[in-house]
Amino acid sequence: MKSLVFFDFIWVLIGVNGFGSVYNSGKVEFSEKPLGYKEPPIINVIEASDGNGATCLPNYYPLQDYDPMNPKSVPTYNLPKYDESFRVGPNLELDPDVKILLDSLTLEEKAGQMVQIQVGMFLGCDGLINVTAVEAIIDEWKIGSVFEATQNHGGRWNINSPQRFANLSNTIQSIAIRKGSKIPLIWGLDTIRGANYVKGATTFPAPVNIAATFNPIHAYNSGSIGAKDTRAAGVHWAYSPLADINRQKLWSRNFENFGEDPFLVGQMVYQNIKGLQGNYKLDRSKVAACIKHFIGYSDPQNGKDRDPTHIPLQELAEYFIPPFKKAIDAGVATVMEAFGQLNGQSIAISKKILRNLLRDQLNFNGTLITDWGEVNAQWERYFTAFDIDDSTFQALSNTSIDMSMTADDIEYANSTINLVKSGKIPISRINESVGRILQLKKDLGILQTPYSNPSLIDTVGSAQDVELARNAARESIILLKNDCNVLPISKKDKVLFVGAALDSIGYITGAWSVHWQGATELEGNDVFGGYGESILDGIKKITGDSVNYIRGYNVSGFKVDDYDHILQLARKADKVVFCLGEKPSTEGIGDIDTLSMARDQYEAVKNVAEQTSTPIILLLAQNRPFLLGELSKSACGIINANLPGPYGGLSVAEILYGEVSPSARQPYTYPKFDSQAQLVYYTPIANNYDPEFSFGQGMGYNNISYSQITVNSTDLRPGSPISISITATNNGKWIQNEPALMFTTQKVKREYVPERHRLRSFRKQRILPGESKTFKFSLSAEELSFIDEKLDSVTSEGPVIITINAFNKNSMSTLIYLHER
Ligand SMILES: *[C@@H]1O[C@H](CO)[C@@H](O)[C@H](O)[C@H]1NC(C)=O
Ligand SMILES: *[C@@H]1O[C@H](CO)[C@@H](O)[C@H](O)[C@H]1NC(C)=O
Ligand SMILES: *[C@@H]1O[C@H](CO)[C@@H](O)[C@H](O)[C@H]1NC(C)=O
Ligand SMILES: *[C@@H]1O[C@H](CO)[C@@H](O)[C@H](O)[C@H]1NC(C)=O
Ligand SMILES: *[C@@H]1O[C@H](CO)[C@@H](O)[C@H](O)[C@H]1NC(C)=O
Ligand SMILES: *[C@@H]1O[C@H](CO)[C@@H](O)[C@H](O)[C@H]1NC(C)=O
Ligand SMILES: *[C@@H]1O[C@H](CO)[C@@H](O)[C@H](O)[C@H]1NC(C)=O
Ligand SMILES: *[C@@H]1O[C@H](CO)[C@@H](O)[C@H](O)[C@H]1NC(C)=O
Ligand SMILES: *[C@@H]1O[C@H](CO)[C@@H](O)[C@H](O)[C@H]1NC(C)=O
Repeated sequence: MKSLVFFDFIWVLIGVNGFGSVYNSGKVEFSEKPLGYKEPPIINVIEASDGNGATCLPNYYPLQDYDPMNPKSVPTYNLPKYDESFRVGPNLELDPDVKILLDSLTLEEKAGQMVQIQVGMFLGCDGLINVTAVEAIIDEWKIGSVFEATQNHGGRWNINSPQRFANLSNTIQSIAIRKGSKIPLIWGLDTIRGANYVKGATTFPAPVNIAATFNPIHAYNSGSIGAKDTRAAGVHWAYSPLADINRQKLWSRNFENFGEDPFLVGQMVYQNIKGLQGNYKLDRSKVAACIKHFIGYSDPQNGKDRDPTHIPLQELAEYFIPPFKKAIDAGVATVMEAFGQLNGQSIAISKKILRNLLRDQLNFNGTLITDWGEVNAQWERYFTAFDIDDSTFQALSNTSIDMSMTADDIEYANSTINLVKSGKIPISRINESVGRILQLKKDLGILQTPYSNPSLIDTVGSAQDVELARNAARESIILLKNDCNVLPISKKDKVLFVGAALDSIGYITGAWSVHWQGATELEGNDVFGGYGESILDGIKKITGDSVNYIRGYNVSGFKVDDYDHILQLARKADKVVFCLGEKPSTEGIGDIDTLSMARDQYEAVKNVAEQTSTPIILLLAQNRPFLLGELSKSACGIINANLPGPYGGLSVAEILYGEVSPSARQPYTYPKFDSQAQLVYYTPIANNYDPEFSFGQGMGYNNISYSQITVNSTDLRPGSPISISITATNNGKWIQNEPALMFTTQKVKREYVPERHRLRSFRKQRILPGESKTFKFSLSAEELSFIDEKLDSVTSEGPVIITINAFNKNSMSTLIYLHER
């Protein structure tokens, strides 16, 4: 740890004085690398077959090769610990050595730094690295960044082992430091819940599951393991977390964010960034996080990805901005702007959003990147610009975008050069962005050590990490209904299991794993290479027996077995578990028109409910909350597992069989009708809130009873917070991880309609059978302020109800009074 500080310091001296260098970039001389190598560490990989002498892969290549290599996955490991107790984040001022490097660059070199291309541009038609292409692109356009994983862009392998990924990234870096501006590239990747694009890396449950745990340690762990495994591959930048709030249940990307509540999202985002970044200016097992999508992306009116959003500024400030603010408080290094438009204005060229709001009001000092192709989209898709030069001009002159994720071309660099040369864009604007990019590279250690750290590779897939992912999954499964104690299932019960998602690791993981749209049908479970288990595998592990399973319907809910056969099997069973899944998808590919469930699947359950007396358990393992209709009444038990990930199979089985008592809560409102697709629990108090399942709903197998709430004062005034406490007793026989959620409701709020409830705090504690635990919260008048029409934050006096566990059977409440002074 000391030596890293030392080398950072030395680097400054060398940069200024130019002596003692090991490798001379021709611009600034790089010091001895802290890890002790000047050339890339050679990571040998098993070469691809020569494809029977064919130069290029066939056009249609559905089943990519399986990488025969696996990480060593040492069972346990220790990494150096860095102090993470203080805020580490981007500064406005550049370090002196970064400034020297910036000043040494030509206009062309600066413009190149501002471009990010996808890695497919570095591959040949054989799906392997094309050194000629890498050299040409870097030499001619001096690009500063690359992103993505090869499997999504014509790569030979369906997913790269960390060795192969590092071999590729190191090869590219060794070209980058000799060609073009001779500055190493920064590599970005959608590591959204663990390094989901690296073979063997520990994939965590989807962020929506992390939210359901109401335990932010899992957001931290998912970030921290994800950072390490990403860094093992030679990648430095994770495009996560999403700080969007889930406001539109039709939208395909809800599983990627942390639910519908701004406070919950903020807490999870904060810890996820801490996990990803930690002490990232020193710790080389960390990456830069990137909060996205700034802003308003998650509420498309008709539910389709990238469709227009219309959000009054007051609402934007009250609900959408706070999680981003929390991310900036955490020290997030980078931000990604949102696709599309907000209130009619195109975001990627909006001065109001990307300068006034992000830089001037929120004080964000780090690097701002566009989402995929958003500069080109101005003239190609949104028609807000005449051509690429006009698009680039608007982005540069009106916003503070630093890097354009052009993805497939270098036009942005060319336009930038043209615009500066013709005097339309001042060089100071270019300096501003390139300075931030170079500083980010220095902060991440890329300028000192462009290569991957090979000692991290052996830790990828360690049992130590897998246990953290399993724990997260265990705490993320929501028990919503349990009539007549149908759950947990006893090992003696004869159970019929129905549904394709039970037999698939990919279906319970979702998109952004292996591939952009998830593992493919052809790949099945094989592509996970043993890194994970299906729910059926989990059940077998617990019962030690074969499982009475029939697919019934495919993952999209279409019939594949004779339904009379299901009826026969159901009649012979003590219980039937129907698993209702959803084909993995995200972005536009995941667009849907209705939350109605596929007809065949619905009928399969309805038949059994109407024609047998066998109790039914619904197990939901899906991205979106499909409407349950009558099934919610006919089922005795309902479990919502969302997308627990490749290590969630065992966790789901443990919950089903009562090895673990469930402890999760709904992080979003589960609608009953399509008309409720945009219903959230913080709807105005007079509005109807009668969804299928409420926000915060969920229970365990134990009877947990709560004492009365005590407050140390019933008068709440600005500057003097009150403390609130309540005691929970576990009257059951299981150990219970119990979350207590504290909500407030302002009963009267003059002029502004109060919301039904607002979550202000939550805690989770482990309570042994027979034990009682006290939950303590504090509440300030400032937390009860809201944004008024003038966009000021105000408090308005009135009676306030404090409710613990609103929407649950054991909820408790008490009354206080909020004063303005
Ligand atoms: C990548 O692997 C190949 C094949 O083993 C090897 O020749 C090459 O040196 C490796 N490159 C790097 C940068 O590790
Ligand atoms: C950005 O930098 C300025 C100047 O150094 C500093 O005052 C401000 O607090 C920084 N913003 C954040 C969010 O850290
Ligand atoms: C590699 O790139 C060069 C230059 O772009 C191109 O001419 C060549 O065809 C590419 N090779 C393959 C195998 O695609
Ligand atoms: C771009 O900046 C100009 C000049 O400040 C302003 O008139 C225009 O509204 C801005 N456009 C956008 C999309 O913000
Ligand atoms: C760069 O811009 C110039 C001027 O508009 C244009 O003539 C040239 O074709 C562009 N080059 C590329 C590679 O797009
Ligand atoms: C921008 O950078 C150049 C060196 O690349 C420097 O000469 C110039 O002073 C800077 N301009 C401004 C306005 O910051
Ligand atoms: C499910 O079956 C339907 C009807 O046969 C078919 O169109 C669809 O592609 C299948 N979906 C999956 C994911 O297998
Ligand atoms: C839960 O336990 C408490 C305390 O023993 C008891 O009063 C209550 O009736 C129980 N509730 C249920 C639903 O069994
Ligand atoms: C109530 O508790 C809070 C938090 O512990 C404390 O700051 C406050 O002074 C207490 N108020 C009273 C009236 O005791």
